[in-house]
Amino acid sequence: QKKHKVAIVGSGNWGSAIARIAGHNTQRHSDIFEHEVQMYVFEEDYKGKPLSQVINETHENPKYLPGCQLPDNVVANPSPVDAVKDATMLVFVLPHQFIRSVCKQLKGKVDPNAHAISMIKGVEVKDGKISIFADVIQEALGISCSALSGANIANEVAQDKFSETTIGHRADAKGRENAELFFKLFDTPTFKVGIIEDVAGVSLCGALKNVVAIAAGFTDGLGWGDNAKAAVMRIGLMEMKRFSEEFFDGVKPETFTETSAGVADLITTCLGGRNRKCAEAFVKTGKPFDQLEKELLNGQKLQGTETAREVHELLAARGKVDDYPLFKAVYSIAYEGIDAHDLTSRL
Ligand code: NAD
Ligand code: 13P
Repeated sequence: QKKHKVAIVGSGNWGSAIARIAGHNTQRHSDIFEHEVQMYVFEEDYKGKPLSQVINETHENPKYLPGCQLPDNVVANPSPVDAVKDATMLVFVLPHQFIRSVCKQLKGKVDPNAHAISMIKGVEVKDGKISIFADVIQEALGISCSALSGANIANEVAQDKFSETTIGHRADAKGRENAELFFKLFDTPTFKVGIIEDVAGVSLCGALKNVVAIAAGFTDGLGWGDNAKAAVMRIGLMEMKRFSEEFFDGVKPETFTETSAGVADLITTCLGGRNRKCAEAFVKTGKPFDQLEKELLNGQKLQGTETAREVHELLAARGKVDDYPLFKAVYSIAYEGIDAHDLTSRL
């Protein structure tokens, strides 16, 4: 049987961490996977050289995952079309605002029998409709796409500190086959992959917990302590679940309460994530989020503020803004100049 060829579409903080795991596992399972793993790099200058060249020379991504050695079989490629050529397994791991443009470039260029997985934590809202990116990719490229999400701060995963993650797959036979292949690509003794038949639930948990993490960061900025943050997490989890059940058919309640994609990711992001960090700084400095993203994240991208805006746009279009007081409060504080002190009085 022909071996699977893997391409990683993305090379940011998480993209690089996951390329490292995929590179090791393709070597470990050389009966299933081809040796080389292509990694698409959005080209930029790094200290006078193209970043893709630096990665291939040093086997490190010094801009987005400094200090972490990538295996030699991970090959950086500045062309997305070239990176996915002949690939039978595609891993999408870009900040959500860039997916549409990359899919546009890849349309008609991928193997129609390829399997894809989305590691993107975000949603798309357009014309009063909401989509998960596994569906956006599946429809744009005509290939089966599942989702992976979990309590996975990239810098910790890159150091092989223990974590769990969750693959959410589709109900058909191809969906299950897809999940089993990606399980083999990612599961390691310190990165434990669980599988659930719930592509929407897993995707929505990953997107919506970022909005809750903004609220958690506000409580940190205000110095409100751990009880207040736990309350925000509890209320946030309820809103995440209610929102997902309201707008998507068939999401499973246990995805929210029992998987790494659900409650565990909510906790880790509210404790140690970038959204939390920038929201704390937003309260403490009064600077806008786009400025804080530039100052604090060195090119990495916030997903929670955009998602708060997108969720608000959908709820406004459906006349449901007041049904989700935490999501509403995050939007009002981040975008409408409402004082963060008002957070809890609005819940
Ligand atoms: P990141 O936050 O490091 O973002 C930077 C990446 O975006 C770089 O690779 C950069 O080249 C790329 N980029 C910038 N402009 C671009 C453009 N115009 N077109 C295409 N690419 C462009 O990215 P990340 O941490 O790898 O996150 C990717 C996804 O994974 C996000 O949805 C994120 O929420 C999710 N995620 C992140 C983590 C984490 O800890 N970092 C963990 C789990 C999931
Ligand atoms: P941040 O984007 O807030 O850093 O969250 C990372 C993450 O998704 C951890 O699972």
